[in-house]
Amino acid sequence: PEAQVFITRQLPVGLEQLQQVANVEVWAERQPPPYDVLLKKVKAIDGLLCLLTDRIDEQLIAAGNLKVISQVAVGYDNIDVAAATAKRIPVGHTPGVLTDATADFTWALLMAAARRVVEADRFTRTGLWRTWEPDLLLGPNITGATLGIVGFGRIGQAVARRAKGFDMRILYASTYQWEPELENSLGVKFVPLEQLLQESDFVTLHTPGSDDTYHLFSDRQFDLMKPEAILINTARGTVVDPDSLYRALTNGKIAAAAVDVTEPEPIPNDSPLLTLDNLIITPHIGSASRQTRSKMAKMAIANLIAGLRGDRLPDCVNPEIYQ
Ligand code: GLV
Ligand code: GLV
Repeated sequence: PEAQVFITRQLPVGLEQLQQVANVEVWAERQPPPYDVLLKKVKAIDGLLCLLTDRIDEQLIAAGNLKVISQVAVGYDNIDVAAATAKRIPVGHTPGVLTDATADFTWALLMAAARRVVEADRFTRTGLWRTWEPDLLLGPNITGATLGIVGFGRIGQAVARRAKGFDMRILYASTYQWEPELENSLGVKFVPLEQLLQESDFVTLHTPGSDDTYHLFSDRQFDLMKPEAILINTARGTVVDPDSLYRALTNGKIAAAAVDVTEPEPIPNDSPLLTLDNLIITPHIGSASRQTRSKMAKMAIANLIAGLRGDRLPDCVNPEIYQ
């Protein structure tokens, strides 16, 4: 094969199919390739298969002659898509296959934060469990509570489906109000973000990371929330101002939070957020079921192969290049 491909990390799937159409180089280390390594690699390849830890900016795109950029993730805020579009390079991503895994994990965080599972485990392991106590490690009800979903794409909707089983009142705020049929079948109500913040017992974020959602949650939004509210973020760390989150959790503006994403990632070891008992932090594992990660890798490879062949990518972020 003539085509050259660089894959920025080892993937949990075989590469035989790809190797039939391209010479494949895989970055074998656990840490991502440094930017200057990528910048050199990009000059000699036709296809790039990347992760959200790789910064694919205008300079990098300009340095090479890529035929395709294929990302192993649904989000693509690490890629300068406008720069790729300007060079008519298709950008692929992996929507759909991670929707349920991410919604499941959102639910794991919501329940863990509400019922203080992580704190309770620490309590037990440090030998503090002496007897059954009527007021030990209390949290709010989940069943019957009001859930506010911010961002109502595939993942937000999958979270709503699960919330129905908990008899929750479900509000959503979004740039787009969905048809009444969809709203009725999910039992959700479209409200302005301010109202959602004022009325929700749980607020869960499902927006993309972008200039529009950057620090969407800062002091003002936390001020509007109920003091007993719990914030869940499995979307992007950049949606929440970390200093505001710290203030909200220490000043009683909200009761607790659980986040799978931080700004920056990874969270710095000296972040004051790491000292808080009312915050759960996981290392960006929302889509991390074995089945889902394997499907994501396969989808990204299918996008890559299509791009190398000059075919339309099955899941393309910038289909306007085909017009
Ligand atoms: C993960 O964060 C993804 O965007 O797939
Ligand atoms: C996009 O982020 C989605 O909801 O799948």
